[in-house]
Amino acid sequence: MCGIAGYIGERNAPGILFDMLKKLEYRGYDSAGVACFSGGKVIVSRGKGKVDEVRKKSRITEIKSTVGIAHTRWATHGEPSDENSHPHSDCTGQFTVCHNGIVENYKEIRVELSNRGHKFLSQTDTEVIPHLIEELYSGDFETAFVSMLKKLKGSFALVAVDSNSPDRILVARKESPLIIGVGKGENFIASDTPAVLADTKKVIILEDMEYGIVKKDGVLIKRLDTGIPVDKEVHDIKWDVKAAEKDGYDHYMLKEIFEEPAAVKNALRGLENITATAKKLSKYERIYIVACGTASYAGQVGRYVFERYGISAEVVIASEFRYSTINTVDKKCAVIAVSQSGETADTLASVKEAKNRGAYIISVVNAVGSSLTRMTDDNIYTYSGPEIAVASTKAYVGQATTLTLLALSVAKEKGKITEAYQNEILDDLYAMPDKINSILNSREKIKKLAAEQKDCKSFFYLGRRLNYPTALEGALKLKEISYIHAEAYPGGELKHGPLALLEKGVTVIAVCPNDDLKEKMESNMQEARARKATLLRVAEDGEFTVPVCDPVLSPILYVVPLHLFAYYLSTSKGIDPDKPRNLAKSVTVE
Ligand code: F6R
Repeated sequence: MCGIAGYIGERNAPGILFDMLKKLEYRGYDSAGVACFSGGKVIVSRGKGKVDEVRKKSRITEIKSTVGIAHTRWATHGEPSDENSHPHSDCTGQFTVCHNGIVENYKEIRVELSNRGHKFLSQTDTEVIPHLIEELYSGDFETAFVSMLKKLKGSFALVAVDSNSPDRILVARKESPLIIGVGKGENFIASDTPAVLADTKKVIILEDMEYGIVKKDGVLIKRLDTGIPVDKEVHDIKWDVKAAEKDGYDHYMLKEIFEEPAAVKNALRGLENITATAKKLSKYERIYIVACGTASYAGQVGRYVFERYGISAEVVIASEFRYSTINTVDKKCAVIAVSQSGETADTLASVKEAKNRGAYIISVVNAVGSSLTRMTDDNIYTYSGPEIAVASTKAYVGQATTLTLLALSVAKEKGKITEAYQNEILDDLYAMPDKINSILNSREKIKKLAAEQKDCKSFFYLGRRLNYPTALEGALKLKEISYIHAEAYPGGELKHGPLALLEKGVTVIAVCPNDDLKEKMESNMQEARARKATLLRVAEDGEFTVPVCDPVLSPILYVVPLHLFAYYLSTSKGIDPDKPRNLAKSVTVE
């Protein structure tokens, strides 16, 4: 996720563009840049750092310009650096582009263009875009832009300028958001509405496979496949800036839960890299998965998927691993470090120690360019986008998906599963975003359940095998943002102690996938019912209803209602779930 912006009008573009980027910083903040027309050329100023830092260093604010484009980055391909910052230009400096999304076929395009003499200065996927326009240009900017778009695979929201056409900015969208703020004698382009609200409340929303020509006194949108103009509605935005930053959601946490379908889709984008990494991983004798908190529960999902296919993997909390398990690590071990931020102190320390002992280190990480990614042999990115809420939600879904894909690939590599079986699971995974959406659409029912439970003092979450981590994650989320006591147990453990605490007034949440352990789970629930505890089930026919899916993928789906439940319980108690007491987003100290 990155933020892109554009301005064309009468006022001074650089200042307006930096202001717009500030409003988009929640979409990414590792580097920023602006490109503006001046003296028949396009001047680019960009660099590593947050928007304010780049603005402070930049001299572009001193030039007089009324047209420009800008970008605030959240790295996906290539670490945060001056060279990888947007905007990117072609060899001649005629075409300059800002991009949000992923160009999936950038490697092939880059090789092809390099063979034709193009020089690349960054490691980004984006840089192929201006070079492609340069390659395809024969006098008409729009024609070259459209031909370029037709060659891209993946997702994009784009703004592009041509130093020979200072009266226009070209825009396009596929799967990444882009809007145009319509002003009087000026127009604005942005990834999201908050960036334009200070100047206009009138907004055109680009749909997938549309592109447009934005001039200061007009906007023309066309279909990419036919080139036929589209009659676009101009929406009147009623949100204030604060609400708009959260896309209209009350909290970042809710917005991020609603990004869980995209988290699965984005994790699947890493499949090629996962398959390549699995080839190396499958050679190691022992696999340790090391992480903290929610990331460690995603690690547990991974462990159970490995075990399902007869491969052993051990999950160790990083703060324990570094002081104990580390004594068992040698060069026959592989360590998979799982982290959203890539900055968690205990995870980093564990990796450092394991590396010193010769282990093969892989990360499953969201933040590209984070400290973790610089300590590993191979990185697998989850591409979940920035997570702002302290309690992790979409990152968990991204991690669980990625680890499931990794375990499947290793199992395939070791001959434990067939390609046909792997493809069957993959097909179900590609269908997962729609299934998650159907749970999100039942939010009112979950909200009602949460309101009914808001005065309950104690929750027990039960799950077995693959969904024991789902129970752990559900309980942790509830604790974190509602401050209610919640514990998670494997269903079979109930009678070994915790049963003593079950009575009227206690709520048991049971995660019950439709699998071979269903009856065992049923008898665990019976134990709870007999003690008069309230019972809520996450099941195909449960109080939290979930769609049918292959049991191996159930952790990815069954956690969604539990995230929503924790969120609504928190808000029903009047707590701000984005800022839970005593907690920080990134734990960078031991
Ligand atoms: C819980 C939560 C934490 C993090 C943990 C690890 O909602 O967010 O438990 O999962 O602090 O953080 P990362 O993944 O950044 O290493």
